[in-house]
Parts: sequence; structure tokens; C-alpha cells
Amino acid sequence: MTFRTRLYARLQTRSRASLNETFRHLPPAQAPSRVPLASTHDVWDLPGLAMQVPADLPRDVVSRSERLKTGVLSLLLRHLPNTERRTRWDRATAEQHLLDVLDGGIPIDLWADWKTDAGWARLFTQGPLASQIRREGDALVADVRPLSKAERYAGLAAVGVRVGLAIDERGPRPLWIELEDGTRVTPTDGAAWERARLIASAGLQTYTVFVKHLVHLHFCAAQPLAVLVHNLLPWEHPLARLLFPHTAGSLLVNWRANRSLLGPHGAVQAAYSYTWSGVKDLFHHALTTFDYADYDIPDALARKGLMPLIESGAFPYGEDALLVWGVIERYVRDYIEAVYPDEASFSADTTLRRALDDLQGVLPKPIVVTDRASLEHMLTRFIAMVTFEHKLVGGIAYEFMTVPYFFPHRAWDGATAEDTVPWREETEANLIGKWGTTARSYPLAADWSYVAVDERTRAAMRRFREALDEAGRTIDARNARRAHPFPFFHPALLESSIAV
Ligand SMILES: [Fe+2]
Repeated sequence: MTFRTRLYARLQTRSRASLNETFRHLPPAQAPSRVPLASTHDVWDLPGLAMQVPADLPRDVVSRSERLKTGVLSLLLRHLPNTERRTRWDRATAEQHLLDVLDGGIPIDLWADWKTDAGWARLFTQGPLASQIRREGDALVADVRPLSKAERYAGLAAVGVRVGLAIDERGPRPLWIELEDGTRVTPTDGAAWERARLIASAGLQTYTVFVKHLVHLHFCAAQPLAVLVHNLLPWEHPLARLLFPHTAGSLLVNWRANRSLLGPHGAVQAAYSYTWSGVKDLFHHALTTFDYADYDIPDALARKGLMPLIESGAFPYGEDALLVWGVIERYVRDYIEAVYPDEASFSADTTLRRALDDLQGVLPKPIVVTDRASLEHMLTRFIAMVTFEHKLVGGIAYEFMTVPYFFPHRAWDGATAEDTVPWREETEANLIGKWGTTARSYPLAADWSYVAVDERTRAAMRRFREALDEAGRTIDARNARRAHPFPFFHPALLESSIAV
């Protein structure tokens, strides 16, 4: 293990411990301060977009010690990047020594059959890739070809792939992988299949972590929601109080991401296959093609042809996503009815209308809110994005995105599996990154009712907790009969916001 690996592991372990300490207590109910906004050009070096984004943040959002820590980390990333490549790991050594860098860490809890094709394909039905499949003819397909447009580092494999799967009551299995050059490889192709699976994994992980997690959830969902609460709604407004738990810690974590994940020395270009220029191409693509309708979970699942899978019990993600979506939707409706007993009272709220008009300036795409129903819908979708959707693509990354021969973060253009997986030091750097970014933040099921403005909305918040308990019992019952449990959307494990 190299000096750098050890150094970054120590820093991340300390940072994870400090996050755990922060999230032991819910944030105090106090008016969030206004945050300055700037162009995407100024903040992300992405010109030509109309969206405004939070710029440098006030002291009560980013403390002096936080600034100092992040400053030191940026200097380290610039002058001592954790990108060494010294040792190659074969399969057995990789498994044996993966967690050495974390002094054993938390054991990685994968399915017993994770080394098989069936175990790998389960990533698409109850792992971090489950929100990316759609039916195309006879196959369920995941498609990350947009990656092919981005500039790659020399020597790394082209990972803009498509993957076809068959999913039925017996479980999922891969049918084919279409590599970036159009070649189709199937599970009967021996060593070529093994290599294709590693390459596909690297593409799927890159797309999940960067596009689905960072851009869609941190920047297109949590960020505008936080601006609504910080800048656009008065603190006394009941919707500011509804959203407070779902924005807690969001601007701080995005501020950190802007400094340590993005940029020419950031962790994204260091860990994945793309140069900073390539990452920016992908960033631009992700913002301009983003569509809020993709996160209207029930409609999106139906549009993607996935309802029959859910009905057959072969798609645990879809089944539990619909359950938790329903709980959030009923809560938002309950809360909105307490705030606006009729349409006239909604229409009379000129403060909200003005706030929603101004919100358009910080969104990647406009949102239309004309009545209580469309307001409920928009809020349900945002809360779903920052809770269970974030859990899927971010919160379970330590479990699913760290084992190099299962689901590697990058792939070299090698002839064999051993030459295709990332180097030992790269794998360790990825593990350390995932370790530091998967601490559990504020619990969704905590008692947040202390932020309510009145008894009616407080009661709605309490009913939400009861409904979450009930959903948890349903998920427990489902998991008792599932061949492979899917515990991650259990409300006891969900977080209220994307604070990590
Ligand atoms: Fe996150």
C-alpha cells in the first residue's frame, strides 16, 4: 500500500467520522441565510447555459474550518493526486486485500452469487443500475452511449456501451453487451465476455455516479430546492418548513463537490475515464438533456415498459420505489391540504407564485405549477429524488461500486480481465472515495415536526412518520419472501436529503 493511499484513507476516515457526528443531531429550525448565485460559466466553467447556481456561500453554510479543510484537500489533489499505478491485482488478491486500506472497514455485503452473470445482472433489478433500464423489443436495455462523446484519457477503454438483459421470475440474466464500436459480445464468448462485462461496468458506474447522482440529483434536484428554501420563500412560509428537512446540508455538500470532485484536479477526472474537458462535455450533455419527467416514478416506469416486471415480482427496485413514492405523494397532499384548503387559497398566495417564478432561473428546465395538483406533483418528485433515488445511485455505492472484478470504476484497454480492471492503487482510491461519500445523513423517518409552523402541518408530518413505519413493515414482508432481499428503500435506512 503506498504512502498516498494511506494518507487519503486516513483523511477520508476522519471526514466520514466528522460527518457521522454532524448527522447525529437534526439541524436547528432557523431561517436559512440567502446565498449568492452565479452563472454555470463562473462556477463550473460551463458557458452557454441559462441556469444560475449557488456561488460562494455564507459563513453559516460553510464554516471557516470547512473552508480550511477543503482548501487543504484541493491543494493535496493538485500536488499529490491519488492517481498512482504501481501494482496489478489478480482476482484472488483483489478480493483478499480490498479493505486493507480501511483497516478492514465495513465488510462489503454482496449477494452470495455476485461472481456469476446472474449476480452481476441483479445490479439492474435491485442495485444502483435499476433506474436505467427500459424495454426495447425482447430485451431490457441500459444505454450509456452518451459517454462516447466525451474526451477520454489515453489507454482507457471506450465505455459508452449498451447492455441487453432478460428478466423474469427466475431473476435477471445478461443477453449481450454492445461495445462502443458496435461489436456485440454475449455470455458464451468466454474471455471476450469477461472483458466486455468489466468495460460495461466501468461505463455504467461512470454514468451512474456522474450523470444520475451528481448532475441529476445534487445539481438538478437538491440545488434548486435549497435555493427555494434559502432565497425565495420566507422562513415563515409553510412550504419552506415542508422542504427544510429535504434540503438540509445540500448546499454545503454541493459546495464541497464543486471544489473536490469537479475541476481540472478534481476527483471525477482522476477516478473515471475522462479528462476534465471530457467531464465538462458530459456535464453539459447531462444538464441539457435532463428531463424532470424521467423522475415521475410511476409514469416513468410505465413509459419504460417495466410494469409487467413489477407485477411479476422480478423488479424489487420498481416495487419499492412505487411504494415509497406513494407514501411521499400522500404526505405532500396531506400537507398541501393543510396549507391550502381550496384552490382559491392557493391562487391567493402571491408569495409562492413569485417564488416559483424565480425558481425557474435556477432550474435546468422549466417547471409548470398552475394549481394544487401540479404543486403536489412537483414537490413529490423533488422529495423522491433527494431521498430514495439518491439512495439508489449514491448511498449504496460502497457496497456495489468498489469490488474491481465485479463493478469497476474504470477499465483499461487490455486484452484480458487482469489487464482491464483498474490498477490496485486506483481501486483503493475509488474505495476510499466511496467510503467517504456514503456516510448516513439525516434520517427521513426522524421527527422533523419541530420545524412546522402550526398544528395542522405538524400533524401531517407525524402522519408521514406513521406511513413510513407502515411502508417499512411492507418492505420487511416483501424481503422475507424475496430470494435476494432489497433492504435499501426501507424507510429506516432512507435519508431526508442529499447531505453527503
Ligand atoms: Fe450524494
